[in-house]
Order: sequence, then structure tokens, then C-alpha cells
Amino acid sequence: MNVLLLGSGGREHALAWKLAASPLLTKLYAAPGNPGIAEEAECVALDVADHQAVIRFCREKAIDLVVVGPEAPLVAGIADDLRNANIHVFGPSKAAAQLEGSKGFTKDLCAKFGIPTAAYRRFTELAAARDYVREQGAPIVVKADGIAAGKGVTVATSVDEALAAVEACLGGAFGSAGAEVVIEECLEGEEASFFCLCDGITALPFGTAQDHKRVGDGDTGPNTGGMGAYSPAPVMTPEMVERTMREIVEPTMKGMAELGAPFSGVLFAGLMITAEGPKLIEYNVRFGDPECQVLMLRLKDDLLVLLNAAADGQLGHMSVRWQDEAALAVVMAAKGYPGTLEKGTPIAGIEAAREQGAQVFQAGTALREGKLVANGGRVLNVAASGATVAEAKANAYEAVSKIDWPGGFYRRDIGWRAVEREKA
Ligand code: AMP
Ligand code: GLY
Repeated sequence: MNVLLLGSGGREHALAWKLAASPLLTKLYAAPGNPGIAEEAECVALDVADHQAVIRFCREKAIDLVVVGPEAPLVAGIADDLRNANIHVFGPSKAAAQLEGSKGFTKDLCAKFGIPTAAYRRFTELAAARDYVREQGAPIVVKADGIAAGKGVTVATSVDEALAAVEACLGGAFGSAGAEVVIEECLEGEEASFFCLCDGITALPFGTAQDHKRVGDGDTGPNTGGMGAYSPAPVMTPEMVERTMREIVEPTMKGMAELGAPFSGVLFAGLMITAEGPKLIEYNVRFGDPECQVLMLRLKDDLLVLLNAAADGQLGHMSVRWQDEAALAVVMAAKGYPGTLEKGTPIAGIEAAREQGAQVFQAGTALREGKLVANGGRVLNVAASGATVAEAKANAYEAVSKIDWPGGFYRRDIGWRAVEREKA
């Protein structure tokens, strides 16, 4: 099969690495890709926002499957345009991508189909939103309705902080993504990421993970896209997975089909495991980054077979097998991230890290005069396996120590919660 992978991050490097291992693969292209992905695929300078250009490329190269990594092209409807051109694609339609594209849409779906989630209200009027915050009190969570580059959520510990967040959101801080604000109850518990491959009808559980959103050790400092992850998430016991499927994922699949927007692609449920059971915090319609990197390390089966079955509506016949081992990824980011970054700093030592048995997935990297340099916020993901999370962690950090990149930094405590639990 000829496959085109869209995207350029660590998530896509991990997907490319796993797709490249498939005996079914003839040729892998990536657009735009990055220097790490270029080791597994031919990178092509396609403008992914130009859907007609992507379609022309697929016809020219006889592409059998398009795999979409990030959410932006999905929310922009690339899967619809490809399907209308009779090109197979792994990823949801624009209508189904609203599960990530609009928090209000997802909350209304939850209300309509009885899916457990935080109690909420939606507002476009400042005065009404303010009154609701005052009425509810703190802690309370304020969210821009649309996609706001991971910055649209405030977990407010005081009414004043919540009011400021509401004012910023409706005042245009997130542009059109903040034209509507969702205000919701603050949930208590442990967070977990849960993934399912979906084909419109069937949802096949596809692993669990936990990530670390805060930039600093001890889960302190500003939120980021994720500074590290491990899989599996100990809190997602087989019983909890079964309950999440029954109470959250299956009603979502049924509800989306009923709304005329059946979901296919990867459904990423951000969960809070509360005293009352699993509750949905949010959906994403793509793999998590860096959660995908640890899932790919643990996946035993052929990724291409699974993604193709999802695109074909054939998941009902499939199963998924995982390595028993845990996997853990440490994100190495450019100094200054998630604020102002230093770009162009040289990176060495990737081979030495690999010799430790780790995978080094590249995210924000570039080649300058043949040398690898940093070219983004999150730059490298160093991922390793081990019999326990503690062992995977030791292996990953051993490999991290081989990377020679003075322009970067990383958290030293990825996996702490699971490691504590293993000790207990
Ligand atoms: P998001 O940007 O939507 O991924 O949300 C960022 C983070 O905010 C989540 O990972 C949670 O830690 C937190 N969060 C979002 N909604 C809630 C909620 N209703 N209760 C508690 N924490 C929340
Ligand atoms: N690591 C969280 C995300 O990809 O949204």
C-alpha cells in the first residue's frame, strides 16, 4: 500500500515509524514531515490546507490510505474532501471533528445521550456568564468553545480568576474560538487519556496513557502540550476501561451516528476518574502527543492493518495486542517553552540515545547545513520500555542523558504518580 501521512510532530514520527514496519507498506510519504520522519518516509512539501493539492498528490502517487495526524486539517474538512474524491482516509469528517472543534457541541452531546461529564452552561453574553460564575462560586472551570492552541482552559480557584477568564475569552483573547464560553463544574480525581480506533460503528479500545501537562517538575508552572507520558495508565483497570466504553464511548458512537455524523478515526477521551466513576473532560479527534509515542512503543499489531480497517469500516473483525511492558516518553523542549523560544540551537547525541535501546522521536527539528537544530517548542521525545513504569523511566532518562543539546530542558519526574503507586 502507498500511504500519505499528514503532520510534522513527534506524534507523526511515531506513527511513521510504526507504519514503516508494516509488511503491507509499499511507500510512505509524509507532508510536510520533519528530519526524523524523513528516516521513515519521503517528505513532500505539500500545502495540507490546500485540499485539492492533497487530492492531486494522492491520485498522482496512487495513495491507498491517507492518515491525518493533527486536528486542524480534520476540523477544516480534509477527510470529507478526500472521501468525496474516493480516497481512503483515516480520520473523522468535519461534522464528527466537532467533538474536538467545539466544546459546546460535545457538552450538548453528553447532555442529550446521558454521558457523564462536568455540569456546564454555554454563554455568549458577558453579563449572564458573570452572573453564573458568581452563583456557582469557585473552584470553577472556564473554557473557550473553540480550539485555542491549548490555552483556552482556566481551572479557576477563585471567583475573581474565573471572572477574568470569562472577560478575556468573550473579550476576544482567543479570537473567534472564544466567541462562546463554556463554564463548568470542577471535577476531582485522577486524569487519564483513553484511546479508541473507530470506524463509524465500532469503537475498539486502543490503549491508555497519562501525560504531564505542566511545564515544571511536581506538575507546576504553565500548561503545555504535554511534557511526557507513560502507558498504560494504572488507574485504567480493565473494569474502568469496560465502564468507560459502556458509559462514555459507546453512547458517543451511537449519538454521533444518530446526529448524522458517525465518528471514524481515533477518539481520544480525556477522562477524570472521580469517586463516582469515569467522567469525560474533553474529546480530541486525533492521537495525543506525546501519548501516541508511548502507545506505538507498546503496540504489537500492524498499525497499517488497523488504521486501514478503521477507514474501511472493518474494525468489528479486529483485535489489538499490546506488549506487557510499560513505555514512557520524556519530552525535551527548547528553553523558554511554552513562552518565547530560542530556535536554531544544535542537537547531537541521538545515535547514542538510540544505542541505549530508546526511540528518539523528533518534533520541532530542522536541518541547517546538514546539521540537526531545534525548530520549535517541543523538540525531541525520548521513549523507552521497561517491565515497570519505574524501569521504563530509568531507561528513558538514561537515553536522555546521551542527548547533547544545551538549548533544551526537560522534566525529571515523568511518571511520578505511577512510580509512587508501584512502590506502594
Ligand atoms: P484542555 O486544554 O481542554 O486539555 O484542559 C486542560 C486541563 O484542564 C485538563 O487536562 C484538566 O487538567 C483541566 N480541566 C479541564 N476541565 C476540567 C474540569 N471540568 N474539572 C477539572 N479539571 C479540568
Ligand atoms: N498531550 C495532550 C494532547 O495531545 O492533547
